[in-house]
Amino acid sequence: MMKFFMPTKVCSGKGCIVEHAAQLKTLGNKALIITGKKSAKANGSLHDVQAALDSLQIAYCVFDRINSNPSLATARDGARAAKEFGAEFVIGIGGGSAMDAAKAIAVLAFNELDDKTLFSGPYANPVLPIVAVPTTAGTGSEVTQYSILTDDRLETKSSIASEAIFPRIAFLDASYTEKLPVPVTINTAVDALSHAVEGYLSVKATEVSNILAAESMAIIGKCLPLLDKGPLGFAVREQLLYASMLAGMVIAHTGTTALHSMGYSLTYFKDIDHGRANGLLMHEYLEFIACHHADAVEKITGLLGMKNLSELKVCLDRLLKEKETISKQEAQRFSAKALQAKNLLNTIRKPAREDLEKIIAKSFAV
Ligand SMILES: [Fe+2]
Repeated sequence: MMKFFMPTKVCSGKGCIVEHAAQLKTLGNKALIITGKKSAKANGSLHDVQAALDSLQIAYCVFDRINSNPSLATARDGARAAKEFGAEFVIGIGGGSAMDAAKAIAVLAFNELDDKTLFSGPYANPVLPIVAVPTTAGTGSEVTQYSILTDDRLETKSSIASEAIFPRIAFLDASYTEKLPVPVTINTAVDALSHAVEGYLSVKATEVSNILAAESMAIIGKCLPLLDKGPLGFAVREQLLYASMLAGMVIAHTGTTALHSMGYSLTYFKDIDHGRANGLLMHEYLEFIACHHADAVEKITGLLGMKNLSELKVCLDRLLKEKETISKQEAQRFSAKALQAKNLLNTIRKPAREDLEKIIAKSFAV
């Protein structure tokens, strides 16, 4: 049995928002734009969205209070703003944080939900239509049914997973990613890589998701060596955005796996960027998988254009530079936390807590 479902209309290319603006009119006459304080203004994406809305006489209000790793409280504030404005749809502009917050706001605008029900559903009232404009190439959130939020109740990140929050439209314009600082470009590319890799190693992988993952890995493999070698050309930026979208389509079907489960702890407790957290753990995670699934891991390194896992390690070490310090106690605590994550169950080789602790400890040379 194979299921493939991808309801997001993807428009891509330089200037695609203005070119395809008419699509927005199908969603309503009042939009809440959800974004961070600065980057959408600086990279031109907010300007393009506003120009498109103005040209269609769609009224809008900007909620620009999204920080990295958005909290439930921020999503609830945004939902209040959506309700007060009478928004008929939402537009998330930014990296994963803004798009994921937009999804939660779309749910909460007309659904009074406690924290637990927000993550589990069901939602009695309609969810506002969502438009996604990624300004980094990594999260893939523009084509997924996931919203990842910081959950202080559980001291980690928790996710909403509902077909109701698939964006209706995604606008992919790589020019918004052109001025990203090098570490952001690297961390987000590594996040996209981890989505493609983990999708390939998920118990939910299908023939179609593997085709998408393979293409994504082949593209990212070519881009990785260029990421710290000076300014990237527009063509490379477009390739990265495309590969991250493909990887998003992969995890929409396969979910993420134990690598993301462990990464969430590094982000929550050590404030390590999400993509970087996955990248720091990736080599040891793949070594762990390779003990039982050597062929699959060999296929992955081959798709990346690398001879073996050691070559991937050298590449990631060079890109991610000096690692943070983690104590033995932290490795124990983070592995216990990761064991409770839902996505752990997707991993083709099920790790015990001790396995997770070993992966974390080896990754940080504890
Ligand atoms: Fe991710």
